[in-house]
Amino acid sequence: MASDHPRKLRNGGAVTELSEHSHLVSLPTIGPSGGARATGLLAPMTALVGRDEEITAAIGLFRGDVRLLTFLGPGGVGKSRLAVEVAGRLVDDFRHGVVFVPLAPVLDPARVAETMAQVLAIAPRPEASIAEALAERLRGADLLLVIDNLEHLLEASPLLGSLLATCPRLRVLATSRVRLHLHGEHAFPVSPLSTPDPASAQTLSPERVGEFSAVRLFVSRARATSPEFALTAANAAAVAGICARLEGMPLAIELAAARTGVLSPAMLLARLGQPLDLLHGGPRDAPLRHQDPGARSPGATTCWKRTRNRSSVASRSSSVGFPWRRSRR
Ligand SMILES: Nc1ncnc2c1ncn2[C@@H]1O[C@H](COP(=O)(O)OP(=O)(O)O)[C@@H](O)[C@H]1O
Ligand SMILES: [Mg+2]
Repeated sequence: MASDHPRKLRNGGAVTELSEHSHLVSLPTIGPSGGARATGLLAPMTALVGRDEEITAAIGLFRGDVRLLTFLGPGGVGKSRLAVEVAGRLVDDFRHGVVFVPLAPVLDPARVAETMAQVLAIAPRPEASIAEALAERLRGADLLLVIDNLEHLLEASPLLGSLLATCPRLRVLATSRVRLHLHGEHAFPVSPLSTPDPASAQTLSPERVGEFSAVRLFVSRARATSPEFALTAANAAAVAGICARLEGMPLAIELAAARTGVLSPAMLLARLGQPLDLLHGGPRDAPLRHQDPGARSPGATTCWKRTRNRSSVASRSSSVGFPWRRSRR
């Protein structure tokens, strides 16, 4: 990492699959030298809620000696959002900036190297394999590579291991539902957002309830649908109940909050006792993995496949198992 005299790694615009990240906007950061310093890094469309501790911790690890950090957690917990935020704040720590590689649309591990080469604008050469061309280009690079959504492509993770071994100033921030199990990997479990205890929320003021990150996210997304929405003494306990019922999972909270135009928090909470068919119909341009498969192809994945077979987020998430819960017991 270096903070002096930034140079550009390449002049390109962002190369990414916007269909997978349409809640974000492609916006290359321009460094002091005028070069693109954040290739493929996307500017979020909505404000980040909470996560101060996680951001400080992750930045601290990269400013220390960690070279491979993996944000771990189930789909919808906020790994990608956190990775974008951390990478954005580290742009000036790396002489060659940050490169964001979205892998969610890539289904074949054999195509990971090619996808990375595309984002880095490395042209194929007959005399070298793509992995060799990547290693050659990155050997002298002082760069943070963000590899988003690796869990379905674990067979390709040794490529990252060998790039880290041969490129001494390269660092990698990966997001995945499972560990990569690479040498030197620093696993960083991403927890759900903080939620009030619904039992004690009855006695808390709306201001106190509104201090929890999950509630702040709910209120902010509810306002996008119903600008007049506010946390009041009449609805604070129900909002706390919704956030607790959804276990602080940002994706589920966003989908629930989008319903406030038609349902009060109390009605929403009551419906959440029923099968999760309520939480469908999120943004049409949400990442494919986060969309309602009823409105998409049956191949759509993530929590929807699981939730539609179970009665609640609670049963889903406990069946999947939250590693941070286990470690705290
Ligand atoms: N801290 C946060 N503040 C605001 N929105 C968030 C936060 N964490 C996640 N989100 C939103 O929740 C949704 C799911 O988050 P995402 O990062 O895509 O989850 P994951 O990568 O773990 O599947 C996205 O729409 C994202 O923008
Ligand atoms: Mg993600």
